[in-house]
Amino acid sequence: MRKFFPVEELARDERFNKITMRDRMGDPRTALNVSTDASGKRTNNFRLTPGRRDASDGARGLMHGIFVGEIQALEGAGRTCWDFETDTEAPFALKLDMARQCWDEARHVEISVKLSDWMGSEIGQYAENTVLFEAACSTDPVLRLAGVNRALEGLAIDVFTTMKEFGDLAGDPYLEFCEDWMLADEVTHVKMGSDWLRKITENDPDRRKKALEFQSVVDKLFSYGGTRSDSQESPIGLARRFRELAGFTDDEVADIAEVSMQALNERKSAVAKMREAADQFASSAAAE
Ligand SMILES: [Fe+2]
Ligand SMILES: [Fe+2]
Repeated sequence: MRKFFPVEELARDERFNKITMRDRMGDPRTALNVSTDASGKRTNNFRLTPGRRDASDGARGLMHGIFVGEIQALEGAGRTCWDFETDTEAPFALKLDMARQCWDEARHVEISVKLSDWMGSEIGQYAENTVLFEAACSTDPVLRLAGVNRALEGLAIDVFTTMKEFGDLAGDPYLEFCEDWMLADEVTHVKMGSDWLRKITENDPDRRKKALEFQSVVDKLFSYGGTRSDSQESPIGLARRFRELAGFTDDEVADIAEVSMQALNERKSAVAKMREAADQFASSAAAE
């Protein structure tokens, strides 16, 4: 069996549509784009809650994103078991952890399919971008764990916490409990990433630095537009307590909070500029 499998050749049937991260964020059904509440009033609270006008589409889109993320997490953890020589490149115990993760992710795929069905959507209704698997293509297992387990599954902790609260507020015990159980697994996966990163790079500060840099690149990429931050203006909150349980230090959580707020502020100023330009255009058109 070949090692280091290219992202272009991932097995997907005709239901799946691959798009870029940029296109995905441009999907008008994404939870990021709508700024009115259920009564149609403009609001600064974008948190994904049942009170949002686009709550159904936003929650379904997020659920589909979770579903394709679970497939790629399964594929990535599986590759880490296979791509590296045992002990010389990756400790046997690390591979055992990745094998356990495969088992969890396979279960999450099944849960996500059933939840999507329960929420009234189907496979392929939203597109897939494969950034998660791409982060799992690094030739260094420590970089994979930093990028996938710490950055992306760290984001999964934030997403599951928001979706769990959504289920609670919507009075949907299926959604709430499923998200809660998957959240518990994700905290374990992130903890595996934190523990192995520290253990393997204990006497190799350069490798640790490289891995943390890779993690922060992935974190930044997924902070796009301020989708996730402490502010209610972000659809997804930052799950500080669960991140602590997953082995993030206070400083690391503070860094992610800062990067997320920066991304949110950048988006807000870009939107303000566009509105200003639109207003100017409208007033000059009216004057003519
Ligand atoms: Fe998962
Ligand atoms: Fe996971």
